[in-house]
Amino acid sequence: MQAYTSNSQPIDRSETVRLIDRQRPDWSLEQAFYAAPAIFALERDLWFPRQWMLVAHASEVPEKGRYIVRQLFDEEIIVVRFDDGEEDIAAYYNVCTHRGSRLCAKDGRGKLLVCPYHAWSFRLTGELQSRQDLPESVDPEALGLHRVPCKHFGGLVFCGLDANSLPDIQPVADGLTGGLRENGLDRARIVARKNYLTKANWKLVLENFLECYHCRPAHPEYYRVNGHVKVTATRDADKAVEWQNEIEAWH
Ligand code: FES
Ligand SMILES: [Fe+2]
Repeated sequence: MQAYTSNSQPIDRSETVRLIDRQRPDWSLEQAFYAAPAIFALERDLWFPRQWMLVAHASEVPEKGRYIVRQLFDEEIIVVRFDDGEEDIAAYYNVCTHRGSRLCAKDGRGKLLVCPYHAWSFRLTGELQSRQDLPESVDPEALGLHRVPCKHFGGLVFCGLDANSLPDIQPVADGLTGGLRENGLDRARIVARKNYLTKANWKLVLENFLECYHCRPAHPEYYRVNGHVKVTATRDADKAVEWQNEIEAWH
């Protein structure tokens, strides 16, 4: 694989490894981490599949039989409510286990997921239900839909691709569920959706989001009205006490 830095010098995988090796901990990343397609390709192969991603809100699959089709990096997945319990949401690759046809073309509802090609059908829990002309030597149990790891808490549905290397999401769920419920996220509904296309590497967007050092000079109004922002922007102990008091007053 070859890629190009902004001065048009190609870099290959071994150069990418050298770049990673010489990265100084806690220092900004070198330019190539934001601009070189070889690094982006490496992230797609190695990093993205090992991350839990927010793919849906639970209200998008409000009752048994409802399913939605979503893109997760280079894969298309189906997120389905297979029963009425709070936890009963699963995700599958949107690929029929017969000849690989796309199973669901769009969001929908049904008692089964039926393939449009030869009409094999799958239960909402993923097992193969009915199939045409399956040779006796083939075990139908082995032909269920391929599951995508899926976890749901506080109204948010997360999926990840690489089941063997996804981190344990339970500590995150334990830490966030209370706050999500307190803010009504579990009872929320989606009324509008806006996409903002940013012509920048994804890490620039995340890095900006994860620091609030810039909030005071860059967003003075936001800084003035939001106690949490005041604390994270200044790390001022008095402001932290004020903010804590404000939270307790709400309760
Ligand atoms: S590809 Fe789905 S039933 Fe044949
Ligand atoms: Fe900002």
